[in-house]
Amino acid sequence: MCGIVGFTGQENALPILMRGLYSLEYRGYDSAGIAAFTEDGLKVIKTKGRISNLEEKLRGEGSFSSTCGIGHTRWATHGGPSDRNSHPHLGGRDGKVAVVHNGIIENYLFLRGQLEKHGYVFQSETDTETVAHLIDYLHTGRQEDLAQTVLKALSLLRGSYALGVVSMDDSSEIVAARRDNPLIIGLGEGENMIASDITAIISRTRRYIILDDNEVAVVRPDRVTVYNQLGDVVDKPVQEVNWDLSAAEKGGYAHFMLKEIMEQPRAFSDTVRPRIQDGEIVFEDNGLTDERLREAGHIHLIACGSAYHAGMVGKAVIEELGRVRCSVSVASEFRYSNPIIREKDLCIVISQSGETADSLAALRQAQRAGAFTLAVVNVVSSTIAREADGVLYTWAGPEIAVATTKAYSAQLAALYLIAAKVAKARGLLDRQTERELCGALLQLPDSIREMLEQIKTVQYLASKYANRSSVFYLGRGLDYAAAMEASLKLKEISYVHSEAYAAGELKHGTISLIEEGTLVVALATQRHLYEKTVSNIREVTARGAEVVLIAAEDFDGDVSACKNVIRLPACMERFAASLSIIPMQLFAYYVAVERSCDVDKPRNLAKSVTVE
Ligand code: G6P
Repeated sequence: MCGIVGFTGQENALPILMRGLYSLEYRGYDSAGIAAFTEDGLKVIKTKGRISNLEEKLRGEGSFSSTCGIGHTRWATHGGPSDRNSHPHLGGRDGKVAVVHNGIIENYLFLRGQLEKHGYVFQSETDTETVAHLIDYLHTGRQEDLAQTVLKALSLLRGSYALGVVSMDDSSEIVAARRDNPLIIGLGEGENMIASDITAIISRTRRYIILDDNEVAVVRPDRVTVYNQLGDVVDKPVQEVNWDLSAAEKGGYAHFMLKEIMEQPRAFSDTVRPRIQDGEIVFEDNGLTDERLREAGHIHLIACGSAYHAGMVGKAVIEELGRVRCSVSVASEFRYSNPIIREKDLCIVISQSGETADSLAALRQAQRAGAFTLAVVNVVSSTIAREADGVLYTWAGPEIAVATTKAYSAQLAALYLIAAKVAKARGLLDRQTERELCGALLQLPDSIREMLEQIKTVQYLASKYANRSSVFYLGRGLDYAAAMEASLKLKEISYVHSEAYAAGELKHGTISLIEEGTLVVALATQRHLYEKTVSNIREVTARGAEVVLIAAEDFDGDVSACKNVIRLPACMERFAASLSIIPMQLFAYYVAVERSCDVDKPRNLAKSVTVE
């Protein structure tokens, strides 16, 4: 949700900013821009569209260099994608200040009105331009440094932000600030950077500090100083990136999404292996004590998007193994639903990025209610990970494609582990069953690999069905949860309308949409539901649907009505969602490729959603 980068040092900042922007493009790609100090002053170049458009525009500007600048890639909120609404925004009549922003300033209309009264003329419809003019207004004619002015400006802002600010007063200084939006500061030798995340700094440095809410940093080539709200200097711990640049590169694949789909055996295995020892579930460093799990009256699973779908699977498996009541909620609904949260409840917030605004708000709400909060998060040291009482990291590695695949698989792995641990703490798992569960979890990466080997079959199916205007996914129980994720994958990247239905529910209305040639992907991996699902398949084939069936190895129902059948290798059926999703991810991928869609950066979406 908007990417910010900034550089100050000795080298030419432009290629460094551009590289940083390319690596942040997954956060939003409606427009892009940079502001850099040149011999002629502060130069701003920005344009609607992708970073490549900006690069082209920069080339048209002829050669110039700069050792300090800020850049931005935008996911539009206030004001549509346009050159004018692109960041950076200039503040002041003579454009002395430039600002890049990620987040939403809620009281911008009020502030804009006030500033207009003081003669400020606005060029855009954005909330961000208000910040730029406000800083100029507060700074002009006062003998204070930019950081002090920014601190003052922040106290007038309502809403959320990560900000990068530069001013003509000092052409080697960047001031950065954050509230509820991520911002890190990369520490180099004689150079420093600001960025929305690690991918933008890793080609220059592995050392960074994380800015916390309400802090302001002054970033210069030779030093970084961080202040709190009171203006006191804060001592910040230095972190080190623990993965390689290659993990954030395509490595020969046509798209990040395909690479990440293929990485799922490893993502699953890396999440599970360190937590299993000698056939026992062992992970104790995140506050999930046996006592807490025994006493939990209710487990709330809270998430958005695919993480919510992982939560649906998690709920089923935790309830089945742990026999404790679980609910799964979309974070944006949970937070405004006056939820009943009791002190002994356990709230599990699932998030790849660890920055999703609604999930973070739900986490804080659960904490205020006194519940124990556990984050299942992929990005190390992200806000949700830091604020939760305990964190269980999914070790999927950096995920770049907007549509999640490997992080989703790793979330399932983490939830299976939690389910087993809940069952064990509540005395429902004897040693033998625990050993079997652990064996099954350790076996799953190989089974995922086997599913991936069916890639050619899926590619063929995608080419056959790519021109369909609508696809239905049907399943019951865990298969319904997997169907939800499959449907989301297809629609988000290929723009084909699709719906997931609990197989028994379709007949209550939506079956009216089934007509000759409609594609229905049916799932049948849960033994006790085979017959029921077969009946539902018959209901749709009788109305002309073409059915692709994804079925367990031992599925013995009548498949004569199905056009194609994809079989899962043998597995514990409670873990089948980890296998059935693989061909459906590949199907979505290849349909999107067939339809010439921008697979890694689907229209209108962003990977990290830091606004409500
Ligand atoms: C966005 C992404 C989805 C993701 C959701 C939740 O909508 O496009 O792929 O599932 O956010 O993100 P999180 O980082 O919290 O898992």
